[in-house]
Amino acid sequence: MIGRLNHVAIAVPDLEAAADQYRNALGANVGAPQDEPDHGVTVIFIELPNTKIELLYPLGEGSPIQGFLDKNPAGGIHHICYEVDDIIAARDHLVTTGARVLGNGEPKIGAHGKPVIFLHPKDFNGALVELEQV
Ligand code: CO
Repeated sequence: MIGRLNHVAIAVPDLEAAADQYRNALGANVGAPQDEPDHGVTVIFIELPNTKIELLYPLGEGSPIQGFLDKNPAGGIHHICYEVDDIIAARDHLVTTGARVLGNGEPKIGAHGKPVIFLHPKDFNGALVELEQV
């Protein structure tokens, strides 16, 4: 059911420093910051030949990324995103396996303008999983 790895998201305590490091030290193709108020994050995408890296920084009050950074002050891998063809079919199948969908269970429009859901990390070996319909 899942397809390509769409991105790995890393929560960072200093967005500009992280972007500079990926640009200068790692020589990556680093995009411009984008505010995503619906998700409480500012995002920078880094295009790699086979996937993307998403740098996440808190935006606004009650950002889920702020809570993550409070627990992980140096930053850390926040989630991984797999591509699916049909997010409703994927969700309905996952629910039958006992997996929990975060939020109200309905897809939200994600940072790439496509529908996404998040799956409870306790159901996936401690990893927060995002599914994106492509
Ligand atoms: Co993501």
